[in-house]
Amino acid sequence: MGKITFIAHDNTEQVVQFEAGDSLMQIAVHNGVRGIDGDCGGECACGTCHVIVAREWFDRTGTPGDAEEQMLSMTPERAKTSRLGCQVKTTEAMDGMTVRLPEFQM
Ligand code: FES
Repeated sequence: MGKITFIAHDNTEQVVQFEAGDSLMQIAVHNGVRGIDGDCGGECACGTCHVIVAREWFDRTGTPGDAEEQMLSMTPERAKTSRLGCQVKTTEAMDGMTVRLPEFQM
């Protein structure tokens, strides 16, 4: 159990609790975080779960796979620390992590 803070484009913060093992997208959707849609249910096929991980936490999110890279390459607001939330499986080491949401999802 830990906490992750989602920061919307307008700087509104939502702090949510998570159980390690769920994806960032699942945590956001289950907690009603605005700005994460997760339309494909986590299949890495829609790009509506884009998050921008705070730089100091980015290494803990692992490495994007080829399919995620492809989706991210089509994401308008991509940043250096962009990830697709459905591809980031949370761990205990992410307790306290902060992620920003883009203004628009795909
Ligand atoms: S939920 Fe569709 S790409 Fe992440």
